[in-house]
Amino acid sequence: MSAEDLNIDPHIDRAAEVLARGGLVAFATETVYGLGADATNAIAVARIFEVKGRPRFDPLIVHAGSAEQAARCAATWPDAAAQLASRFWPGPLTLVLPRRPGVIPDIVTAGLRTVAIRVPDHPLATALLKRARVPVAAPSANRFGAVSPTTAEHVRESLGSEVDLVLDGGPCRCGVESTIVSLAGENPTLLRPGALALEEIEAVIGPVALPPVGSASAPLAPGMLARHYATHTPIVFADAVRSGLNTARCGRLAFTGADDEKTYGAVELLSPRGDLREAAAGLFAAMRRLDARSLDAIIADRFPNVGLGRAINDRLARASVR
Ligand code: TXA
Ligand code: MG
Repeated sequence: MSAEDLNIDPHIDRAAEVLARGGLVAFATETVYGLGADATNAIAVARIFEVKGRPRFDPLIVHAGSAEQAARCAATWPDAAAQLASRFWPGPLTLVLPRRPGVIPDIVTAGLRTVAIRVPDHPLATALLKRARVPVAAPSANRFGAVSPTTAEHVRESLGSEVDLVLDGGPCRCGVESTIVSLAGENPTLLRPGALALEEIEAVIGPVALPPVGSASAPLAPGMLARHYATHTPIVFADAVRSGLNTARCGRLAFTGADDEKTYGAVELLSPRGDLREAAAGLFAAMRRLDARSLDAIIADRFPNVGLGRAINDRLARASVR
């Protein structure tokens, strides 16, 4: 969809005004909907934390309209950053870099000496960022710990009137959050698997270290808590289900299909043709639909641990922690 197709201009003007006066704008990106505030306005950013119920130790991603604007937030711009930015921005990749003092206030980075930045790839987000002329701090537009929104309707359901304006750009193309890579340490490190496959990143900069396993009390990336993306209904991996389950009271979240589909109370097939991108794009909406059925449990497939399957398994694993 181009900016013209979306007929966005009047909305973008209003959204930029809302940001300029310190308000909150939820907006479509290619990954999930973001809850944005002017990243240079500490008071506006504080409202993001309040509205989400997000702990202050969990830093936000800064969204920029161009790689140049993004680089101005960082103290260094190593070759790997230049290579990844030119290959994948705009797109679903977040880079963590040493932070340049005096550009982004402490509240955005939770006082860390690093900053997470990305240039999103959605005509609405691009138009907003260009018009606003400031970087925009934006977490996913859901309450802390809940399933991320992939439609404007999801945003309204979870945040309602607490958002000043919602820029509806239709369902998000990727459906899972950006991949986060830290370039702030000795070696490039994957902090969060996401919508850009690790294999694609490694094809550009070589091996990326997988994070040492963090614990719930001392997670590696501050926001990577064990339990996250959680539905109210317990999620259990199919390979961990004990026998004797009343499947009629359970939902089934499957990749291509399941042998015993008909016995379940509700079934969501994420991609009958076995496409991990399609599965990722529909994951959160399917989790929400199953959650709305008041079932006893959601039984989920474990996905192949390649490409977007990594991000899907990560989200399901965090959702399954009780
Ligand atoms: O696709 C996305 O990345 C979406 C859209 C809206 O852009 N945003 C998103 O934001 O997923 P959020 O707040 O839900 O997740 C941001 C993650 C958190 O786990 C946070 O801890 C981590 O990024 N993060 C932010 N700044 C960091 C930093 N300086 N170092 C390490 N991790 C950081
Ligand atoms: Mg989030």
